[in-house]
Amino acid sequence: MRETSQETSQEISTTDVTLPSIPASLQSLLDSDGARHFKRRRHLIDVEALSPSEIEAIVETARSLKTLMMQGQLPLRALSGKSVATLFYENSTRTRSSFELAAANLDAHVLNLDINSSSVVKGETIDDTARTISAMGVSALIQRHAQSGSPERLNEIAPPTISIINAGDGWRGHPTQALLDYMTMIEICKSVEGRKIVIVGDIKHSRVARSNISLLKKFGADIHVCGPPPLVPYGIESLGVRSHYELCNAVEGADFIMALRLQKERQKQGLIPSTADYAHLYRVDHACLRMAGSGVRILHPGPINRGIEITGALADDPALSLITTQVTNGIAVRMAVLLILLRNGD
Ligand code: CP
Repeated sequence: MRETSQETSQEISTTDVTLPSIPASLQSLLDSDGARHFKRRRHLIDVEALSPSEIEAIVETARSLKTLMMQGQLPLRALSGKSVATLFYENSTRTRSSFELAAANLDAHVLNLDINSSSVVKGETIDDTARTISAMGVSALIQRHAQSGSPERLNEIAPPTISIINAGDGWRGHPTQALLDYMTMIEICKSVEGRKIVIVGDIKHSRVARSNISLLKKFGADIHVCGPPPLVPYGIESLGVRSHYELCNAVEGADFIMALRLQKERQKQGLIPSTADYAHLYRVDHACLRMAGSGVRILHPGPINRGIEITGALADDPALSLITTQVTNGIAVRMAVLLILLRNGD
């Protein structure tokens, strides 16, 4: 049954009153100081800016939403009548689909702009596309773009009422990935303080590595990075991490190992001799885990190059791999971000 809603002039005037509303336990998380501070930002552009209490509020909200998801209690009547748009100028499987499911689970409408069949192909500028979609009355623009800093540009163009959510910009940041990775780790160990987390691969060009380092340092994790010298940025120790060029040394005593996708264009650029050489030295497999901690777990943001940065056997090992949990948690984290930023009230 649909009834009229007059919450804001931008909202589509329908609400499905048969859907469950936000339960009290979830509402108390939304009322926390951390959630209120995050909501006041209006945007999620980089994890760098977030305080630990804001991050905890997002992740606790995500955990509560995950429980509802697992109990089959979604969708919620939470963002009824609101619309969000996804603008993906780079390919995506996980991030785009999970934002779409997250919005649907909160009863929001989703406008997925297919860039390849949009007027971008006819020469419309990115700025004009943003202006056009903004004029359609959406509450959020969720953008992925190859250019670092593109969310700030979008923020200059879009009206101030629209939330900008960064779904990955160049080498700079992928905030929801870091949030879901953090959620996945604390489901295992409660706190990352003092935990050894090793990020392996192309650290230099990785927005996932950059956002994870920034977030995990806020919670006292012992972060190590490992990769071929051309792919480990000079001076990265200034971020408070330790760098390694040998995988066996790096993973010694590790609690978590995060393998990154090898971006194959790095071989064309001459940054690695060959993918076979890379795999020989840096592929994470069961053998290299002999040096790791006894409870070590494996993460990978995806997409995976099986056999290059991680063996298929390890990626699929249910006792060690957290990769499918990361995907599930991605929906919960993106629901939490949308719910906190877009819900009505202060
Ligand atoms: N981890 C991640 O960003 O995956 P997608 O590129 O598939 O969105």
